[in-house]
Amino acid sequence: MAQSAYSLSSTVKVNNGSSIPLIQLGVYMVSGQETMNHAVHTALGAGYRGIDSAEWYQNEREVGRAVRSFLSSPDNKASLRREDIEFTTKLKSNISYSATRKSIKRSIEESGLGYIDLYLLHSPYGGKSKRLECWRAVEDAIGEGEIKIGGVSNFGIKHLEELLASTPRVTPAVNQVEIHPFNTQSKLSKFCQKKGIVVQAWGPLVRGMRMEHHTISSLAKKYTCSPAQLLIRWSLQHGYVPLPKSVTPHRIIENGQVHDVEIEAFDMEKLDALDEHLVTDWDPTNTD
Ligand SMILES: NC(=O)c1ccc[n+]([C@@H]2O[C@H](COP(=O)([O-])OP(=O)(O)OC[C@H]3O[C@@H](n4cnc5c(N)ncnc54)[C@H](OP(=O)(O)O)[C@@H]3O)[C@@H](O)[C@H]2O)c1
Repeated sequence: MAQSAYSLSSTVKVNNGSSIPLIQLGVYMVSGQETMNHAVHTALGAGYRGIDSAEWYQNEREVGRAVRSFLSSPDNKASLRREDIEFTTKLKSNISYSATRKSIKRSIEESGLGYIDLYLLHSPYGGKSKRLECWRAVEDAIGEGEIKIGGVSNFGIKHLEELLASTPRVTPAVNQVEIHPFNTQSKLSKFCQKKGIVVQAWGPLVRGMRMEHHTISSLAKKYTCSPAQLLIRWSLQHGYVPLPKSVTPHRIIENGQVHDVEIEAFDMEKLDALDEHLVTDWDPTNTD
């Protein structure tokens, strides 16, 4: 991909022919309407076009309100419309077909955004039959126009193989997993990329836990960027869709400005070598 392709207006094509924004705003643990408005208005004003929420985060309502208030505000200088924004949300638990259909409808209602652009099974927990049953619900919701794109999150290779072997009507477009230089998940990400499944990187900033690591700070110095920009660029150069979370306006803007940080192959390898399988939150990729 060309260097200039790594900007907030860049998109990546998914397997149903549509595209998703290459860098998106994460909103895990963002709560309160005022904080959400501030983050979402700053992000959309800066050029972000995607927001990653979840039923689990209990903030779909706040995200939806913030998006809608942005669209009708003077901050909307680019005259964006609802269809210009990618709203992602996720199913909390793989309980049943009907519970999934209900959750999808509830997420749409909570957000007030009319439909969901990208809907993910948040994890593989629940066992094989529940995963496949809930995936059928996602397929049917896509058929009814409630969801545009279906995907999964925290699925390991065996979960993906099992879903692909079930001859689904819809192949998952995305697998969202924790990925950063300290947890590279290279086997899983290579598998996804080979199957045409886009890898979304959650925790791309390692939750702020490694900003002062000597390799990160020395490479950030070398490329005259911030440690966060270095981490985001690492993600992009591997072909992932990073979802950096911030509620801090200058950081939201900084995290989207990575087009002129080009990490050389040699330094990409140095960063890859930092892998310590660091799990910052949860790792369900090996569950049954
Ligand atoms: N599918 C899943 O299971 C799953 C799990 C976890 C997360 N996610 C998604 O992925 C998103 C990102 O992951 P995450 O929230 O866990 O962590 P993250 O994006 O790796 O890190 C967020 C932390 O980094 C700080 N930060 C942001 N920009 C910075 C900068 N430029 N310089 C220094 N610090 C900076 C933030 O602080 P401030 O906000 O205070 O600025 C926050 O403390 C989530 O928000 C969520 O949407 C998905």
